[in-house]
Amino acid sequence: MRSKVSIIGAGMTGATTAHWLAQLEIADIVLIDVVEGLAQGKALDLQQAMPVLGKDVKIQGGTDYALTANSDVIVITAGLPRKPGMSRDDLLMANAEIVRQAAINTLQYSPQAIYIILTNPLDVMTYLTWKVTGLPAARVFGQAGILDSTRMATFVAEELGVSVENVHCYVLGGHGDEMVPLVHISNVAGVPLDHMIPADKLAAIVERTRKGGGEIVSLLKMGSAFYAPGVAVAKMVEAVLRDKHLIAPLSAYLQGEYGLSGIYFGVPAQIGRNGVEKILEYPLTENEQAALRKSAANVAENIAKLNL
Ligand code: 2OP
Repeated sequence: MRSKVSIIGAGMTGATTAHWLAQLEIADIVLIDVVEGLAQGKALDLQQAMPVLGKDVKIQGGTDYALTANSDVIVITAGLPRKPGMSRDDLLMANAEIVRQAAINTLQYSPQAIYIILTNPLDVMTYLTWKVTGLPAARVFGQAGILDSTRMATFVAEELGVSVENVHCYVLGGHGDEMVPLVHISNVAGVPLDHMIPADKLAAIVERTRKGGGEIVSLLKMGSAFYAPGVAVAKMVEAVLRDKHLIAPLSAYLQGEYGLSGIYFGVPAQIGRNGVEKILEYPLTENEQAALRKSAANVAENIAKLNL
């Protein structure tokens, strides 16, 4: 039987996630959106692209959650994007209600699903989904680290004029401006970044990575990034459905790792068919540990605001 992935929210990130995913030909796809016709229209358009690519993927769209029944993976992208000048945290209350509904409505039809969350503020919305669904923490996780890390890798590859294939970047922490790009563990063909790039240029790359989402929000003026977030989710869905045991930075539930507990937070984790299998602990410097604690305090503060 073919796998099934349902994407809640057929805006730019939801539809683009479906687009990347369809190209992988690993699952049938359902797009759900509250706006009448939106998910259906985008699904139909995407379905009609499949013969060109020779991909046998069934893509459906609609407003009715019954379409999502028996999904292997649920991806929640529904919610408001930032406007220029806003932080992701400014979306907290509005998006919490949207994510809560999406979680409740999907769970009744797919109690066995793995949940991948993309809605901002990411770590808090992932925590909310875990709470609302009551699922084991391993089956609920959030996408952010792959996105933040690919942004950093883009800047590093440009700076050094090397193939992106040689660049391995790791960004941990909450998906906000206090995220923690690791400059010693990130490397180019095994050589730590801080041995390859002068300190001032590296600091600029770190800063641009932290503000990477905001840079795109300012340019677009309407909405936020969707290509890189979408492909990052597709990568995670693939890791789950193919049971790859992929290690990637993502938002996972912490129970003492990195000295932190009771929050969803960006850490390197191994994922496969059963969700999060293991969290890895990097040897961090004092400064990196302090930066992580600061970022974690921000996530915890926002979680507390939801009174869950
Ligand atoms: C970003 O960083 C939308 O949070 C997302 O672009």
